[in-house]
Amino acid sequence: MALSTVFTEMFGVRYPIALAPMGGAAGGALASAVSRGGGLGMLGGAYGDPEWLAREVPIVAGAGEPWGIGFLTWGIDVAVVERALEYGPRAVMLSFGDPSPYAERVRRAGARWILQVTDLEEARRAVDVGADVIVAQGTESGGHGARRGRSTLPFVPAVVDLAAPVPVLAAGGIADGRGVAAALVLGAAGAVLGTRFQATTEALVDPSVAEALLAGRGQDTERSTVLDIARGSRWPSKYPARTLGHPYLDRWRGREAELAADPRARQDYQDDVARGAVPPQPVWAGEAVDLITDLPSAADLVATLATRTEDALTRAGRR
Ligand SMILES: Cc1cc2nc3c(=O)[nH]c(=O)nc-3n(C[C@H](O)[C@H](O)[C@H](O)COP(=O)(O)O)c2cc1C
Repeated sequence: MALSTVFTEMFGVRYPIALAPMGGAAGGALASAVSRGGGLGMLGGAYGDPEWLAREVPIVAGAGEPWGIGFLTWGIDVAVVERALEYGPRAVMLSFGDPSPYAERVRRAGARWILQVTDLEEARRAVDVGADVIVAQGTESGGHGARRGRSTLPFVPAVVDLAAPVPVLAAGGIADGRGVAAALVLGAAGAVLGTRFQATTEALVDPSVAEALLAGRGQDTERSTVLDIARGSRWPSKYPARTLGHPYLDRWRGREAELAADPRARQDYQDDVARGAVPPQPVWAGEAVDLITDLPSAADLVATLATRTEDALTRAGRR
């Protein structure tokens, strides 16, 4: 069965599977492995740190496969996008914020423009500003998302209907072939996977993160701003993040304003990290973390996902 969709045709990839541009974790080796495996690898450009880009982009850009790069819209300026475009990505993905200042630059460079949205207003705006692809992110997602977000299952088809004929990718809670198949059945042209790709040999994560993902359960994940406040992150509070459990969540849940007003508590966090009492980074993980049971190479994972997607679609059509 061919898994050909508008997305695979647009990017010249074999499978309707994309790597989420996970800030820090999705470096050149991971993006390149996903593209080599037949998906679309996207670098996690985050705030566009020039040193990070100079190190990671050539790894994927030199590999001769289609690739993209994602940024946090609220944390960048036009110079960041222009610098990234100089490397010749096939796609630029923007998430969390107003993408309109970047439309012209991306289009002029001939790259495709992928916009991640978290509600129908953002989806409407993405269509209006001329997105080539829209990623509908549900609240099951690992990492950051909108406080007033929506669940993937009902959100994706609503965005598909609103955005047509612009292709939509589903994101949030997809970690195996059954999830990718479900995305296609909902009318999406593919799926974006983040958490699952963190547990691969190429991800730029500490081995303890991969271990935590293998042991983690969806019911232990939680969306919160506590860890961003504790670690003094720049993330705006309207974007909580889904992570595995953490001692600071238990300590400060429901007292976010108090934590924000308490510099000593933030110093305690730094001290706890320094002496190894808490992990150096929160473990960002989505609800599908239960489905992660191995630590493969990302290229092999893409091939397995594709085979299992075909199996799931075939099974779904049988009585
Ligand atoms: C570790 C991690 C980091 C992420 N960083 C970013 C990011 O920098 N930019 C972005 O657009 N999305 C980021 N995301 C969200 C993804 O784009 C995507 O919506 C999400 O991973 C999909 O849900 P899943 O994790 O259940 O697959 C991140 C997700 C994770 C798990």
